[in-house]
Amino acid sequence: MAISDFDLVLFGGSGDLAMRKLIPAMYARDVCRDLPESARIICVGRAAISQEEFLRIVETTAKPNVKETPNEKNWARFLERIVYVSVNATDVNTYGPLVDALRPDESITRVYYLATPPSLFAQICDNLKATGLATANSRVVLEKPLGRDLESAKQINAEVGKVFCESQIYRIDHYLGKETVQNLLALRFGNVLFEPLWRREWISDVQITIAEKIGVGNRLGYYDTSGALRDMLQNHLLQLLCIVAMEPPATIAPDAVRDAKLQVLRSLKRFTPTTLAQNIVRGQYRAGYVDGKQVPGYREEPEAPKYSKTETFVALKAEIDTWRWAGVPFYLRTGKRMSDRLAEIVVRFKPIPHSIFNQSTSSFQPNSLVIRLQPNEGLSLNLMAKTPGEGMRLKQAELELDFREQFKAPRMEAYERLLLDVLRGQLTLFMRGDELEAAWEWVEPILNHWEQDDSSPLPYASGTWGPAASSALIGRDGLQWREEA
Ligand code: BG6
Repeated sequence: MAISDFDLVLFGGSGDLAMRKLIPAMYARDVCRDLPESARIICVGRAAISQEEFLRIVETTAKPNVKETPNEKNWARFLERIVYVSVNATDVNTYGPLVDALRPDESITRVYYLATPPSLFAQICDNLKATGLATANSRVVLEKPLGRDLESAKQINAEVGKVFCESQIYRIDHYLGKETVQNLLALRFGNVLFEPLWRREWISDVQITIAEKIGVGNRLGYYDTSGALRDMLQNHLLQLLCIVAMEPPATIAPDAVRDAKLQVLRSLKRFTPTTLAQNIVRGQYRAGYVDGKQVPGYREEPEAPKYSKTETFVALKAEIDTWRWAGVPFYLRTGKRMSDRLAEIVVRFKPIPHSIFNQSTSSFQPNSLVIRLQPNEGLSLNLMAKTPGEGMRLKQAELELDFREQFKAPRMEAYERLLLDVLRGQLTLFMRGDELEAAWEWVEPILNHWEQDDSSPLPYASGTWGPAASSALIGRDGLQWREEA
């Protein structure tokens, strides 16, 4: 579907996200000729700088993040789309330059991308309304963090909802823009093979891991008030869990998919004081070695509070109270400064009921399906197969599907795909307001529990898989994290 003409307004237009992801993503789509000729990107920033000065910043800050070194002709053409306006987003009296920059033609889609702290969302939406910029043909994109608890998420939904209706609101979770997440939908609902097995009778457990090698970097100010639970688990990991566990939606239409995801969130077993203590582990990285290089601990990062209790790692065991999933543990884990960078979902099937071979059933590895989001996007299905030669010995073998090998088509970054979806008005990969609130509702008891708890997160050395308690959490059920198996 071709994209119709648009004005994309980036609030936070000179900020980190715009320079690292949004502008490079728009460039990539421009090179692929996805953007209409006259479409523009209007960058809003506070600094009173000229258009030329802003373009110089784009040149030095955004251009190095473009995935393939830009061809000078394409780059120059792309820069012509960019307009800089100096506006104080919270002061309605300064909106004049933005009003002037936007084209009045009603048929041009307006997208307001709020790449700002969420504390500014309400004010920006009010100002867009007061200046008449929030038209029926407008869309608003909200970047995370979408609140820090249920109350603040509800407030964001309510404030933005006063100006835009739900079908105009795009809540970004960039994990939903990753190729493999959509491939998971394809796998589950484009094949007849998996659906009959996709249930408690055949699946023993599911692991979802997002591990990063990087530390907190220069984001300490934000991160120290957030932590891994708010930064990664409440959104990215729960969204992945929803896609794995949801009932088949009738269509790929936004509300069909979002209703199905919402059902999963609402069916997550609530934690009790006992399960909170038993089923959740939080950790904080200490000094260590990542890729052979020495790195400091979280509390030694520049400007880190000496006694910070912010978690940089969380692992938990979740359960879904439905006929499909009752009794199947979902282990979720994320952390910074871990041994490797990977994001993957591991679905483990039940063991065979009886061995006809001269091999005990316990020597059979249960089948498992590994869905790799990064790096090396792909799937592997682990099966038992006969080893070559005489006799009948079975061993685990892998069926491997490497998406890059299989499909030579150029890849799209998550932000490229999500931005195109916003511009096309496709909401399926964006969270609805009730989903956001349901996710916060489930994690809130964990946040409250930690707040009341005097203890600190468990230390773990950088370059490891987190505190030993994380292995013990899954070990109690007789299992291991895949990388430790
Ligand atoms: C962001 C988090 O949402 O996701 C970051 O705020 C994290 O802390 C990042 O590093 C990870 O994303 P990706 O796509 O690099 O795995």
